Amino acid sequence: MNLLQPTYLGSIQLTNHMVMAPMTRSRADANGLVGPLTTLYYQQRASAGLIISEGLTISKQAIGMPFIPGIYTPDHIASWKNVTDAVHQAGGKIFAQLWHMGRAAHSQNKNGEIPVAPSAIAIPTQTIFTEIGQRPFETPRELINQEIKQTIQDYKQAAINAIEAGFDGVELHGGFGYLPNQFLSESSNTRTDEFGGSIENRSRFTLDVMKALIEAIGPGKVGIKLSPSIIYHGILDSDPVSLYTYLITELNKLDIAYIHLMQPMFPIDEYPQYPKDVIEGYGKIIQKPLIINAGYTRETAEEVIKAEKAQLVSFGALFLANPDLPERFHLNTELNVPDRATMYGGGDEKGYTDYPFLHQI
Ligand SMILES: Cc1cc2nc3c(=O)[nH]c(=O)nc-3n(C[C@H](O)[C@H](O)[C@H](O)COP(=O)(O)O)c2cc1C
Repeated sequence: MNLLQPTYLGSIQLTNHMVMAPMTRSRADANGLVGPLTTLYYQQRASAGLIISEGLTISKQAIGMPFIPGIYTPDHIASWKNVTDAVHQAGGKIFAQLWHMGRAAHSQNKNGEIPVAPSAIAIPTQTIFTEIGQRPFETPRELINQEIKQTIQDYKQAAINAIEAGFDGVELHGGFGYLPNQFLSESSNTRTDEFGGSIENRSRFTLDVMKALIEAIGPGKVGIKLSPSIIYHGILDSDPVSLYTYLITELNKLDIAYIHLMQPMFPIDEYPQYPKDVIEGYGKIIQKPLIINAGYTRETAEEVIKAEKAQLVSFGALFLANPDLPERFHLNTELNVPDRATMYGGGDEKGYTDYPFLHQI
């Protein structure tokens, strides 16, 4: 197998093994709607085998930062329909990433509502961007059991909406310290009901959401992104290997499309309990298509695909800066360099749709 050859993800045909990783660009309007520039941005990148959209908030409660698109109103659905139509017309496939930020949010960005989480434990040391500048994270409000069930329903409805908006499937954002990750981790979940305590209980929320998503939109269309060796947003576990081994074993039993794993990204030498290579740590137990992510280049991606250690490789920053990344990989030519200053926010094409193609289209 080679990175640029066509492949299948279940029954979904992909033009190559390259995935555009989900990337928040903070360019939605105050109502969470995306416009023509977003349509163009995704259409430009439709030569990826699969695009995974930026995180889309599943409900008002899920919001945590400004200018994030939503997928919970008829207007959201209509605005994303433009994007999915454009991607399909250009021959691409696109999944919607479903996002609930939980405690990784701020009341300034939520009309004064305090963020919610499995437990009332604030993210220590880090700060969050708000409309009045960087702020420390607040202590969240603990979700009551009934609200957790409602949140699972919100995910389910968001998946139904995503399909109505023309997406080919959905991905649960289960990593990077957002809500499902907050349930998984000891450092953010001290609940004593069925959603806290044992590994089984801490995994329940993620697994219940995945089951609800499959029930909503059918088999083979639901993926999950996990970051088993990332300790960002105050996530820390004493035995992450047992936690993720259990979670992956249970995910293997479901009719899911794929498991999308992030490599560590940040130094973890101080935390020897975390695998430094998540393929080595979990590859053998994964029985679903694996999308591997974080820090991959043309060479390392080719290697991992050839060795059949993963079925697909996702690229974030490289796709952001190179709309024609597959062609550039094919020609083994130079790459545009991502501009950090324009990654998040901005009202025009700068750093969004103006990265040059090798051959202007
Ligand atoms: C600007 C930007 C926004 C991102 N937003 C998201 C997001 O909404 N959801 C998500 O799962 N990951 C997000 N990520 C992480 C990427 O999906 C990916 O995991 C990360 O960039 C590592 O891959 P790379 O080394 O190929 O860039 C974001 C990354 C960047 C650069």
